[in-house]
Amino acid sequence: MITGKFPALRLRRNRKTDWSRRLIEENNLTPNDFILPIFLIDGKNKKQSIKSMPGVYRYTIDKLNNIVDRAIKKGIPMIALFPYTEKRKKNDLGTEALNENNLVCRALQRIKNKYKNEIGIMCDVALDPYTSHGHDGLLQNKYVLNDETIKILLDQSLLQAQMGCDVLAPSDMMDGRIGEIRKYLDKHNFKMTQILSYAVKYASSFYGPFRDAVGSKNLLKGNKKNYQMDYRNSDEALREVALDIKEGADMVMVKPGLPYLDIIKKVKENFKIPVMAYQVSGEYSLLENGIKNDLTDRNIILESLISFKRAGANAIVSYYADRLDQIIK
Ligand code: PBG
Repeated sequence: MITGKFPALRLRRNRKTDWSRRLIEENNLTPNDFILPIFLIDGKNKKQSIKSMPGVYRYTIDKLNNIVDRAIKKGIPMIALFPYTEKRKKNDLGTEALNENNLVCRALQRIKNKYKNEIGIMCDVALDPYTSHGHDGLLQNKYVLNDETIKILLDQSLLQAQMGCDVLAPSDMMDGRIGEIRKYLDKHNFKMTQILSYAVKYASSFYGPFRDAVGSKNLLKGNKKNYQMDYRNSDEALREVALDIKEGADMVMVKPGLPYLDIIKKVKENFKIPVMAYQVSGEYSLLENGIKNDLTDRNIILESLISFKRAGANAIVSYYADRLDQIIK
């Protein structure tokens, strides 16, 4: 496509001034583009720092109002809840996931009662915060069992929906779980609970700091390669997405984000479905470690986030979500 040539054509003309650059911008970030992850801990009046994620904290439930108020004021459409589960509450089967008084359930009720539909709430569907071996499902001879795990995920899904979760986000990578969860929710009259499938979740080394944040890091036995995707593949990502859409996913997630922009783009181009990207904990730590707090350094955050939009993401799960205005300033 040749549309002209030098000297008649000068692409730098459009870039000459700030107003002109703003006029022709193809992508930008607004608060609507973000999902804010919140880490929960048991107890009272605590804001606990996380060693591997400077600037990110775990909060007790009584501290949530502040965070949620601020998120709403900033115009963030959705938060995502992640529990730090005490070791004594974990076991092989992850039964704490089905305890209606667990951290997530209590937080859901609290937030939903107070804020109704002012903000959306998303919760992971997976057992890893609750299992003593740190895997997302039931473990047998180092293999995570598929169908047996789904049975538990169904009850976890229904419980979270009953407690007020708007968007269930299965992050476990079991085959067939989206269809089973959809059927189960419909059967129990939760026809309008949305499903955001972590359809494309790679077995990634970028999740390290998150596992520290939820307390599964030192517990994890082996790796998650027999269920999460192999990062050498991309055709397989499209098969995962195609299946989840067919099974009833309302939106899909690609995770991690920055090393997988090609996948975000392919998924968007092929399926025209809402695509979320997860800027995961390891990406966050990398960026944080590269920042010495002057403006140029902070711009690496914006540049990374815009790349998600350019690739085709509708929204981004980011630990920067509630600090974006400070970063842009
Ligand atoms: C759990 C889950 C993980 C993340 C979100 N949900 C970790 C994992 O699969 O081990 C990672 C998020 C991050 O690194 O920020 N299924």
